[in-house]
Amino acid sequence: MKVIVCKDYDEMSIKAAEFIAEEMKKKKNFVLGLATGSTPVGTYKNLIKMNTNKEIDFSDVVTFNLDEYIGLDKNHDQSFAYFMYENLFNHINIVNTNAHIPSGTETDYDAYCQEYEAMIERAGGIDLQLLGIGSNGHIGFNEPADEFSDITHTVDLTESTIKDNSRFFNSIDEVPKRAVTMGIGSILRAKKILMIVSGKNKAKAVYEAIHGPVDPKMPASALQKHSDVTVIVDEDAATYLKK
Ligand code: PGA
Repeated sequence: MKVIVCKDYDEMSIKAAEFIAEEMKKKKNFVLGLATGSTPVGTYKNLIKMNTNKEIDFSDVVTFNLDEYIGLDKNHDQSFAYFMYENLFNHINIVNTNAHIPSGTETDYDAYCQEYEAMIERAGGIDLQLLGIGSNGHIGFNEPADEFSDITHTVDLTESTIKDNSRFFNSIDEVPKRAVTMGIGSILRAKKILMIVSGKNKAKAVYEAIHGPVDPKMPASALQKHSDVTVIVDEDAATYLKK
């Protein structure tokens, strides 16, 4: 894995956006995998700026998001769909039908998850997958487990993730307990992966992801099995990497 250490969150966000922009320029009908959370907000701000300046064009870009809470409608202000429109899609020239986010309100998730995978395949596979990492090492909502998952599937969220994400809700009881997420296999099938990490609370997870054993108890360690992963971290997140 290639690791780039930046001074702070803002520098990480600029570097990540430049990385994505360079890849987007290489290919028509680029397929971009996207993530939610606090970490990518700055990256999205920079992509919006580049799109406004006409440095990059989203008109033929196809996107697939990693995950969504189960039980939240796409118009709920804590849904990942809402987040994506607020923080990126409403501000760039993407065609809305090209932006895919797993649905949180399906009745038949077995069929839905297979269809989500099939949509990725029909689009030609993901050219670049953007990832954050949870403080417990999750990627997407692939929580620590006994085995690495493969395709898009539903998951029960762990207590630590529910606690981490409760900051966005009025109370911890409002945080959904289940989610739908691309699997570790779906992520590893992306041609290129970019993980962005900021803050001291992620330092241990990112160290173990890169240098620890490949272990489904640390889901991000699966990235060691991929041949083209870049990790952009800020100095706080790089605390253990530098030693
Ligand atoms: P965060 O979440 O960017 O809000 O820290 C990252 C993640 O849980 O993947």
